[in-house]
Amino acid sequence: MYDPTLTIPLSLFFPMTTQFDDAAAMELPPGSFGLPILGEIFSFITDNQDFAKNRHERYGSIFKTKLIGFDAPIVYIKGAEANKYVLMNEHKLFVSYFPGSIRNLLGDKAITQQYGDVHQNRRKLLYSAFQPRSLSSYLTGMISVTDQYLEKWLDLQTFTWYPEIQKYTFDIACKLLISLDNASSTPLYRDYDLWGDGLFSFPLPFPWTKYQKTLRSRQRLIEQLGDLVESRKKNPSDSTSDILDLLISEKDENGDHLTFEEVNEQLLTILFAAHGTLASAICSLCIVFGQNKDIFQQAKEEQEQLGLAEEINYEKLQQMPFLDQVIRETLRLFPPVGGGFRKAIQPCSLNGYHIPKGWNVIYQASLTHLDIEVYDKPDEFDPDRFTPESHKKLAKNMSYIPFGGGMRECIGKEYARLEMKLFAAKLLQGYEWDILPNQNMDLDIIPVMKPRDGLKVNFQSVDGI
Ligand code: HEM
Repeated sequence: MYDPTLTIPLSLFFPMTTQFDDAAAMELPPGSFGLPILGEIFSFITDNQDFAKNRHERYGSIFKTKLIGFDAPIVYIKGAEANKYVLMNEHKLFVSYFPGSIRNLLGDKAITQQYGDVHQNRRKLLYSAFQPRSLSSYLTGMISVTDQYLEKWLDLQTFTWYPEIQKYTFDIACKLLISLDNASSTPLYRDYDLWGDGLFSFPLPFPWTKYQKTLRSRQRLIEQLGDLVESRKKNPSDSTSDILDLLISEKDENGDHLTFEEVNEQLLTILFAAHGTLASAICSLCIVFGQNKDIFQQAKEEQEQLGLAEEINYEKLQQMPFLDQVIRETLRLFPPVGGGFRKAIQPCSLNGYHIPKGWNVIYQASLTHLDIEVYDKPDEFDPDRFTPESHKKLAKNMSYIPFGGGMRECIGKEYARLEMKLFAAKLLQGYEWDILPNQNMDLDIIPVMKPRDGLKVNFQSVDGI
C-alpha cells in the first residue's frame, strides 16, 4: 500500500542554484489563500469549471491560491506565453508533480512521475510503440474492434454512448498495447473504471470513502497486470512486440531489467492514458457531429469523394483535411485533459510575479484555448480556424496545447489522432444518430471532460457501407 505522505526529494535531482534569486524581490501573484488549511476548496467545489475562469477575470493570466490536498500554494496560469515558460522549462525550472493523492494512485514508477535521464530513457522506449510504422500496423486491429462495436450499437439502437465508447477505447488499447482481446468484459475493465472515477477523489482515510475504494481498485489492477506480465515472461510472444514486450525486455541505465513494480505501474498509467482521454475526445466528436448537421454533411461529402466502397487504409486516413480540422477544433473546445500539474524547482518569475521554489503550478489548455486575443468568437465551433498552416502556428506558439508540450508532450498523440479519425470516418460513411432530448448535456471535467448524462442517442445505419 502507498504512503499518503509520499514526497519525492526533488532537491536530490535538482540542486538549488542562485540564478533566479532576483525573482525573490518581486511580488507574489495576486489571489487569495482562503481559509487556513482548507484554502479555497469550497469555491473550487461549488464553482466547478468557473473556479479558475472567475479568478483569471479578476486577476489576469496568473493568480495564486491554496487548496487542501496540495503540499504548497498553487499558481494557476493560462495563455501561450505562460504555457511556453512552464512547458519548455521542464526539468530546469519545473517538474511534473501531481498532488499526493494522485501520486499514490499512479505510483512513483510511472512515467508521469519520473524525472531527468530516467524519464527521457522511458519516453524513448515507449515512443517506439507510437512511430508511424507501429501506428500503421495497429490499423487492422482498430478496424476490427470498431466494426464489432458499430454492429453492437446498431442492435442496441437507443443507448448511452459514453460508457460504450469507454469500453471501445479500452478494448482497442488492450488489444494493441498488451495483446488482450475483449478486455472490457474482464475484471480489469471494472477496476479501471473505478480507479479512473476516483483518481481525483479527496484522500480521506476511512475505508468506505471513494478514495480508499480507489486505492483498493488500484491494488487489484496492479495484481491483474502483474499476472499478465508473469504470463508473458513465461510465454514470450514470437510475433511483433507490443508495449508489454517492450517493458519486459527493456534494460535501465545500469543494464538491469525494469523492476516488476515499474513494469506494472507503467502499464497502469499508459492503459489509462490510452483509453480515458480518447473516450472523452471521441464522445465530444459525436456531440459535435450530432449538434452541427452542416459540419456532419461537409465531412460526409469528403468521405464520399474518397470512395465509399473501398476499405479505409492508413494512406486514405492521411487525406481527410476537413476531418482533420474538425478533430482539431473538437480538441480545442473540448480538451479531454484540461491542463497539467507542475512544481517549481527553482525560484522563478512570470509576468513580473515571483513564483517561489516548491510552489505548485497548474497550466490550463482549456482556458488557453478560449483566449479571445487568439481565437475569434472562441466559444463557437469553427473548424475553418484550423487550416494546416494556422494549426502549425498555433501549436508552435502554444496557443493550442490539447496534448501538452515540451518534454512531457503526450507520447500517444498520433495514436489518438489515428483512432479518432478512423472512428469518425467509419461513422460518416454509414451511420447517423440523434441526440435524445431531456438529458443533461453539461460537461463534467474531472478526470476527463464528458457529458453529465453520458450522451443518450438513437443510432441508425444509412445507405449501407
Ligand atoms: C485525445 C487523446 C489524448 C489527449 C487529449 C492526451 C493529452 C495528454 C496531455 C495534455 C499530456 C501532458 C500532461 C502534462 O503536461 O502533464 C499527456 C501526456 C501523456 N500521454 Fe496523452 N493524451 C491522449 C492520448 C494518449 C494516448 C492514446 C496515450 C498512449 C497510448 C497517451 C499517453 C500519454 C503519456 C504516457 C503521457 C505522459 C508523458 C510524460 O510524462 O512524459 N496519451 N497526454
